[in-house]
Amino acid sequence: KELISEAEAFKAENKDALEAYRIKFASKKGILNDLFSEFKNVPAEAKKDYGQAINALKTIVEEKIRSTQEAFESNEETKSFYGDLTRPGTPIELGARHPISLVKNQVINIFSNIGFNVSEGPEIEDDWHNFEALNFPEHHPARDMQDTFFVQTNPEMLLRTHTSSVQTRYMENNKPPIRTISPGRVYRNEAISARSHCIFHQVEGLYIDKDVSFADLKQTLLYFTKEMFGKSKIRLRPSYFPFTEPSAELDVYWGLKTETDYRITKGTGWLEIMGCGMVDPNVLKASNIDPTKYSGFAFGMGIERMAMLLYQIGDIRMFYENDVRFLEQFKSNF
Ligand code: PHE
Repeated sequence: KELISEAEAFKAENKDALEAYRIKFASKKGILNDLFSEFKNVPAEAKKDYGQAINALKTIVEEKIRSTQEAFESNEETKSFYGDLTRPGTPIELGARHPISLVKNQVINIFSNIGFNVSEGPEIEDDWHNFEALNFPEHHPARDMQDTFFVQTNPEMLLRTHTSSVQTRYMENNKPPIRTISPGRVYRNEAISARSHCIFHQVEGLYIDKDVSFADLKQTLLYFTKEMFGKSKIRLRPSYFPFTEPSAELDVYWGLKTETDYRITKGTGWLEIMGCGMVDPNVLKASNIDPTKYSGFAFGMGIERMAMLLYQIGDIRMFYENDVRFLEQFKSNF
């Protein structure tokens, strides 16, 4: 009786356990065979009960082995058809955003918080939008400041040298108040080195409304440098751009705490971040905005330059080589 309930209660976890069960009960030297050989020694009056009992045990054992075997087999069929559904999935490799996109998105976020939208323009541009409407008359020496790639068959067409071309396009299609930033790729015919490349990225900013003053420009840029770099000491150095008057370069006080600060600021602690100024009345006129009613400011900054500062990247060429060892380092940033 005990053997019957043991045989009945058996549950095989795996094939080895089933085999052990078969050996114990149903092999040549197993319990069943032993019990059958005992049969001849059983007294005649007990033979009937004894015989029934071992036959019952035999049926149970055979049935158990058959059904367990079957369960294993059908389980295996399922596995080979669907794969093992209980296995953990293969991890999906996540890529990383490119540092240029990271910095660009950061700039967009900072300015969208104060009401700027995002605008774009073409990279293959005409002379009017890139130069003429921005107060660079033909033969003006300031055109040489921007080594231009011209389209050979048509010198009226060129690869835009700055995102200021988007200002012109935006003013053509929108009336003030205007608050827009224009991120994008620009091209200059410069020798490629660790510090400069013929392709890079800028973000342009344009703000036009009634009574916009230089103080508004300064305050907006101070807000930006605080958000972007966590630095709140800035200075505006007089400069020249044909499309702004007055014009300035914005410097941020980076500090002189570390070796790197000394190296990147040439020992002064100050770093040039962008060009800016009040939009020249000629530029407003060229885009049919009345300079007696409206005024505005504009600014333009290099994305690679900021990325190099923020992530301490020593060579601008790294951005375009797509070396995964470089790109992977930005995985934790969004
Ligand atoms: N377009 C200028 C440059 O590429 C930057 C700039 C933009 C300066 C807007 C003033 C105003 O250097």
